[in-house]
Amino acid sequence: MPDLLVPLYSLSSLPVLEGFWVGRPLPHQSEKVLDFIGETFGSSWKAEASSAFGSVPPRIKVAVDETGRLLGFCCWDCTSLGFLGPIGVTEAARGRGIGKALVLSVLYSMREAGYAYAVIGGAGPVDFFRSICDARVIEGSDPGIYGNPIQGRT
Ligand SMILES: CC(C)(COP(=O)(O)OP(=O)(O)OC[C@H]1O[C@@H](n2cnc3c(N)ncnc32)[C@H](O)[C@@H]1OP(=O)(O)O)[C@@H](O)C(=O)NCCC(=O)NCCS
Repeated sequence: MPDLLVPLYSLSSLPVLEGFWVGRPLPHQSEKVLDFIGETFGSSWKAEASSAFGSVPPRIKVAVDETGRLLGFCCWDCTSLGFLGPIGVTEAARGRGIGKALVLSVLYSMREAGYAYAVIGGAGPVDFFRSICDARVIEGSDPGIYGNPIQGRT
C-alpha cells in the first residue's frame, strides 16, 4: 500500500458535525482511548497511538457520541514525523462523516503546527483520502518505511 501526500494549504472547510463531537482527549484519558483502539483495531495500532500521548497536548483526535462513547480516532506524528494515522471508525459508526471529520480536524492541527504537507502512510482506502483532502499517491512509496527489517518478525 502506497503513502499519500496531502497539501495542507488548500484544505476544504470542516464539515458540520451531526450526532457526534470531534476533539482532543486529555492525557488522563489515555488508558480508555488506547484500550478502545486495541480492542477495536488491534495491538499494532494501539502501539502506534500510544506515542500520541507522549506529548502535551496529545497528537490524537477522537470522535464520541452524545453519551461520550468512543466512535473513532485519528493520530499524527506517531508512525513518523509528518504522518497522519492511524485512523479508524467503528464499523457501526461508518458512513456518517466521522472519518472525514477526523481527518480534516487532524490536517488543520498539522497545518497549525507548521507543516505544509502531510503524509498518509501505507494508505488502504486511497479513494477515501483522495475525496477528502486531495491526497496524491507518492510513487515508489510501497513498502516505504514499513519495509524495515523488523517488519514481520515481531
Ligand atoms: C476508512 C474509514 C476511516 C472511513 O470512515 P467513515 O466514517 O465511514 O468515513 P466517512 O463517512 O467520513 O466517509 C467520507 C467519504 O468517504 C467515502 N468513503 C468512506 N470509506 C471509503 C472507502 N473505504 N473507500 C472509498 N471511499 C470511502 C464515503 O462514501 C464518503 O463520501 P461522500 O462524502 O461522497 O459521501 C473507516 O471505513 C475505517 O475505519 N476503516 C477501517 C480502518 C482503515 O482502513 N483506516 C485507514 C487506514 S490507512
